Amino acid sequence: MMFPVFSVVLLVLHQLFGSISGAEFFSSVYEMTKVFGYEQKMLLHMQKFLADNQEKLDFLKARLREFENERNEAREWGAAYFDSPLNKYLLNKRLTVDWQRVENLMETSTGEKALNRLKKLRNREIMPNKGELNGAIDGLLRLQYVYRLEAKDIARGILDGVDYGNQLNSELCVDIAKLALRDQHPRLAHSWLIEANDRLAEGEKDKELKPQILALLVQAKAELKDFRGLNDTYQELIKIQPASEEHAKNYESFLKSLGENALLNDSKPILEHAPIPEEGEPVGEFQAFSLTCSGHWRLTPKEQRHLRCGYVTETHPFLWIAPLKAEELFQDPLLVLYHDVIYQSEIDVIRELTKNKLTRATITGINEAVVSNVRTSQFSFIPATMHKVLATIDQRVADMTNMNMKYAEDHQFANYGIGGHYGQHMDWFHQTAIDAGLVTSPEMGNRIATVLFYLSDVAQGGGTAFPQLKQLLKPKKYAAAFWHNLHASGVGDVRTQHGACPIIAGSKWVQNRWIRENDQSDRRPCEIWDDSLVTYDQILELNKQNEAASKKVEQNEYSE
Ligand SMILES: *[C@@H]1O[C@H](CO)[C@@H](O)[C@H](O)[C@H]1NC(C)=O
Ligand SMILES: *[C@@H]1O[C@H](CO)[C@@H](O)[C@H](O)[C@H]1NC(C)=O
Repeated sequence: MMFPVFSVVLLVLHQLFGSISGAEFFSSVYEMTKVFGYEQKMLLHMQKFLADNQEKLDFLKARLREFENERNEAREWGAAYFDSPLNKYLLNKRLTVDWQRVENLMETSTGEKALNRLKKLRNREIMPNKGELNGAIDGLLRLQYVYRLEAKDIARGILDGVDYGNQLNSELCVDIAKLALRDQHPRLAHSWLIEANDRLAEGEKDKELKPQILALLVQAKAELKDFRGLNDTYQELIKIQPASEEHAKNYESFLKSLGENALLNDSKPILEHAPIPEEGEPVGEFQAFSLTCSGHWRLTPKEQRHLRCGYVTETHPFLWIAPLKAEELFQDPLLVLYHDVIYQSEIDVIRELTKNKLTRATITGINEAVVSNVRTSQFSFIPATMHKVLATIDQRVADMTNMNMKYAEDHQFANYGIGGHYGQHMDWFHQTAIDAGLVTSPEMGNRIATVLFYLSDVAQGGGTAFPQLKQLLKPKKYAAAFWHNLHASGVGDVRTQHGACPIIAGSKWVQNRWIRENDQSDRRPCEIWDDSLVTYDQILELNKQNEAASKKVEQNEYSE
């Protein structure tokens, strides 16, 4: 029995010390459906609450009318009304019993049961909280950054060319801009503020929003060092709020910071996205990952020329009858895509097996916990012995990979929803993780190879990106990617760095088979020379990066 240990890789390679991120709620379509169902129940309780109260109010209104009628009648009679002992009795009764009843009814809280049930539903653990709301915005910003989308389009409900028809108003644009500023995305913040400003409607409310937008624009422009624009925005801000001492003071210190006789150049238009780096320019890891996800980094036709595809038959006699369709995506390191290697009937079984078993993906670390956005998905580990379908799949994996499946981890199933992603990482374990005892069953060796099955198509986004190989695998249902994580010498191959690109629309189901090193020597013998040495410089470089990364908490891994 093995435990999930996927997190270790991340820990080592990103040095991101994350904890359970509440922020991934939005990422699971599975949970969204559940929560959406709860909201339906909440509506029913609200209806019940209204109906109960309506009934109470109707009753009270009827009493009111009754009392009024009786009084009107009395008034018509004048003082003579009380000559009648009957009327005296009626007034007394009204003032005692009847009014008491009304008071009692007014006092009782109605619909309490419905209210309590509603509250209980909304307090369920699965329900999103404020942090998760921010997580949803983070997800949106990540999509914008990775796929280089424009705030203008997103606000109109257009995501990467597809019109989803919903509109964001000014206020929502401001909320997004605030988060973008907080997460050090001044370009994105700037674009959202411009959009918020364009979307300002006439009316009282926007008298408040406008100065807020301008004040935030000041921040964004300051970070972008657009001093000329900053000066203009200050002027505008002071014009609409001339009484504000705060603005005057800020403007003054801004002018002071410019120094005497400062000559402000014309500002260059602020681009929503940093330009695509030229060949040879330094590129950050997440940036490289993003450029691969968005298709800006890809192999040239010349680089792809030697890649082959065809039917694999040599690994197992059975394959002569049912050969595997293989598409070579890279030769060194080996990366292959197999088509149609899992069946709908098997996926149906898997869906049944994983039902109610999915847990939120977490990233565990040694240092203090910080919320991390690196992995947003839900996953479940299931041992191969759980169902014969899993054993069948493993036999197929053995045929596909020519690997010994005796030492493989439990089957991992993961579900990514909108915004769901898993930042660039490597599957193999770093020695420090093994030494720290973070790897389960270390005696089985490192993860020599990975097989990643796509159990669903994804409407938009959600590819698997290998930045070092400039390869983007679009999820294709029934297909599986296979690659070697280690050099033949057993040294981890940094070029296998990969990640799950964020999902724009739809949901993604994958299955991971992580195969360990033990008992593979006849399958993948090592060379007499250490084939990892070619990339030794890369490893040194990576270690250096890791050290740097561990020193600062990387709050926003998609920073520029
Ligand atoms: C700021 O803008 C105002 C109005 O456009 C202009 O008069 C002033 O010279 C500007 N300040 C600087 C330092 O450029
Ligand atoms: C304005 O432009 C000139 C020439 O392009 C440049 O040397 C100078 O540094 C710029 N000044 C500021 C404040 O950006």
